[in-house]
Amino acid sequence: MDRRDYYLTEIMRLHNINMLHIIRGAAITDQFGTGNLVEKLTGPVIREAFTTGQPVFLLNELTMRPTVRAIISYVASSKGNLNCLSCHNVAEGTVLGAVDIELDVTSYQRRSLIVLAGLFVASVIFLILIAINTSCTIQRHVQSPLEDLINNTKTA
Ligand code: HEC
Repeated sequence: MDRRDYYLTEIMRLHNINMLHIIRGAAITDQFGTGNLVEKLTGPVIREAFTTGQPVFLLNELTMRPTVRAIISYVASSKGNLNCLSCHNVAEGTVLGAVDIELDVTSYQRRSLIVLAGLFVASVIFLILIAINTSCTIQRHVQSPLEDLINNTKTA
């Protein structure tokens, strides 16, 4: 637990993470105290994650630095590999805590812009090729026969 902050900052450095909080549910603070934490259970989004037990995702892509925020709750369960109820004094299905994480997705957005630009250039080239091909076809099948016809009538 003393290395918790160290690990959290390490994780944040690695993956374009703007913010990472582990939020303790009331069940944890009742049983183990608040620990050395400053994170609190605040905000409507976090409350939603706690009441539903479902992950909440928020996409904010209208700024210069688009972000994705996810709040993923830890639900106590006696099933699975680790029996949470063996230490946590709560009922099955209680939301024990949540991870609140915000990712900087600017680089992903830039990448999709590059892909879009590539597709655009490719389709422009494609259109130009079609145009060239069409004009060749017209020339070969319409213009040339017409010219031949005109020349023939002239000489006849
Ligand atoms: C071996 C006992 C034990 C088991 C099993 C256990 N926990 Fe905990 N858990 C603890 C203790 C003790 C704390 C409080 C640590 C502290 O105060 O720093 C805690 C804290 C937490 C926290 C708050 C973490 C934080 O950094 O603030 C969450 C969330 C949590 N447990 C969820 C779970 C879930 C979900 C499971 C089952 C998958 C589980 N725990 C299984 C003992 C356990």
